[in-house]
Amino acid sequence: MAGTGDLTVEEASRVDDGLVAALAALVPQLSRSAPAPGAAELDAIVQSPATTLLVARDGEGRVVGSLTLAVFRIPTGVRAWIEDVVVDGAARGRGVGAALVTAALERAEAAGARTVDLTSRPDREAANRLYVRMGFAARSTNVYRYTSPG
Ligand SMILES: CC(C)(COP(=O)(O)OP(=O)(O)OC[C@H]1O[C@@H](n2cnc3c(N)ncnc32)[C@H](O)[C@@H]1OP(=O)(O)O)[C@@H](O)C(=O)NCCC(=O)NCCS
Repeated sequence: MAGTGDLTVEEASRVDDGLVAALAALVPQLSRSAPAPGAAELDAIVQSPATTLLVARDGEGRVVGSLTLAVFRIPTGVRAWIEDVVVDGAARGRGVGAALVTAALERAEAAGARTVDLTSRPDREAANRLYVRMGFAARSTNVYRYTSPG
C-alpha cells in the first residue's frame, strides 16, 4: 500500500470467509487473550442497529484495519463509543487508523451523538497519539471493570 490514496473505509454489511479471515488476523494484534470472532459473532455485530463494523481496505481490496462503532440512546442522550481499533502491522503509520477514526466520527455525528468516547491503555503509544491528534481530549473519570467470577 503506497500512501492512503487507494484506501477505502466501508461499513461491513455482510459476513463472508474473507471478513472472518481478516478479523482472525487483526484481533490477535489487538488482544492476546480475546479469541477472534467467528462468522456468527461478526454477523451479530453487522446485524445490530447499535454497532457498525468499519473495515479499511487497500487498493487491492485487502483488509488492512478495522474499528467498531457503538451508538446507543440513554436517558441523557445518544452515546457513541469507538472500540477495537486495529491496523495490520504491515500497514501502520500510513493513516489507516486516522481514516477509520474519521469515518467513525462522521457516522457518530450523523447518528446524533454529540460526543464520542473511547479508552486506550497508556502503553498503547501510537493509539494515544492518534486519538489526541484527531481531537480527542483525555477526561478525568474513574474507569471501572467488573470481571465475572464465572
Ligand atoms: C493504533 C493503530 C490503530 C494506529 O494505526 P495506524 O494506521 O498506524 O495510524 P496512523 O498511521 O494514522 O498513525 C500512527 C502513528 O504511528 C506512526 N508510525 C509511523 N510509522 C509507523 C509504523 N511502522 N508502525 C506504527 N506506527 C507508525 C505514525 O506516524 C503516527 O504517528 P503520529 O501520531 O505521531 O503522527 C495501530 O498502531 C494499531 O493497530 N496498534 C495495535 C492495536 C492498538 O493499540 N489499537 C488501539 C486500541 S485503543
